[in-house]
Amino acid sequence: MPRSGVPTVARTVPEMRVVRLRLRGRDETLGFVPTMGALHEGHLSLVDRAAELADRVVLSVFVNPAQFGPSEDFDDYPRDLGRDLELAGSRGADVVFAPSGQEMYPKPQSIWVEPGELANRLCGLSRPGHFRGVLTVVAKLFAIVEPDVAVFGRKDFQQAVLIQRMTEELGFPVRVEMAPIVREPDGLAMSSRNAYLTSDERLAAASLSRGLRCARGLFAGGEVHSERLLDAVRREMVDAGATVEYIEIVDPDDLHALDVARPEAVCAVAASVGDTRLIDNAPLTGPSTLDAVRA
Ligand code: PAJ
Repeated sequence: MPRSGVPTVARTVPEMRVVRLRLRGRDETLGFVPTMGALHEGHLSLVDRAAELADRVVLSVFVNPAQFGPSEDFDDYPRDLGRDLELAGSRGADVVFAPSGQEMYPKPQSIWVEPGELANRLCGLSRPGHFRGVLTVVAKLFAIVEPDVAVFGRKDFQQAVLIQRMTEELGFPVRVEMAPIVREPDGLAMSSRNAYLTSDERLAAASLSRGLRCARGLFAGGEVHSERLLDAVRREMVDAGATVEYIEIVDPDDLHALDVARPEAVCAVAASVGDTRLIDNAPLTGPSTLDAVRA
């Protein structure tokens, strides 16, 4: 299977298993990048990382109905498999697994992966059932693709922490890696949902990363009271016209809110701009993609 060409496409579970068996026969390790498609540079950076970690890379494209709430954008979610195949291939993904809903959920799902406490925080509060849907589909994808390593973006920090925890506690023989956030030149974290933003909303959306940068600056200057750090982030966002859902400084392992910030803590934000829900986060110290804009 070529690097940087047309990827092999598997549309069904049996097709994916055949591909997997072939790779096993050749003793090749497999890196996996699960996505919902509408690929952008953020997704493609995960393909790059997977290619560093494994001999072959599978990228999946599946808009997972089980993780969307009834009033969320499942029907409107951008879908363009032709474009996704081209982009994935141009970046060296060897295989694209793009199953149908019927293929992934041939009958109504009756067994679920329950995320527990970690989902009762941050995004979990406004999206009941979301992480249960994410963990269940990721568990199914792990069982079908059988990767050696899977790469997730730090952009969805709570999701990545939950997937790491699930992999550990359910004993999947998969190494889970977290990769940095890729941003637009103005700092906005890349997201398939950014396509929904009007040009005015796009300006307001940049306030999330500006707020995070501000918190990092204040922390570097000695401010450790979360309340004051969060106030500064809130001001940036509210002044720009974003409607704040949450702003928190959390422990990176168990996501509980910290009153006093410490270096490894993560500042996480969610807000709506117009009808579009956006999330972002950054560690208070250390390397941050806030300083390393790509694209
Ligand atoms: P999706 O939103 O398509 O994201 C797929 C992967 O790309 C996730 O690991 C996400 O964190 C990562 N990603 C998105 N934007 C990024 C950015 N700007 N920089 C770095 N990584 C970025 O997350 C999902 O799909 C789904 O919940 C999924 C895990 C596929 C399960 O359905």
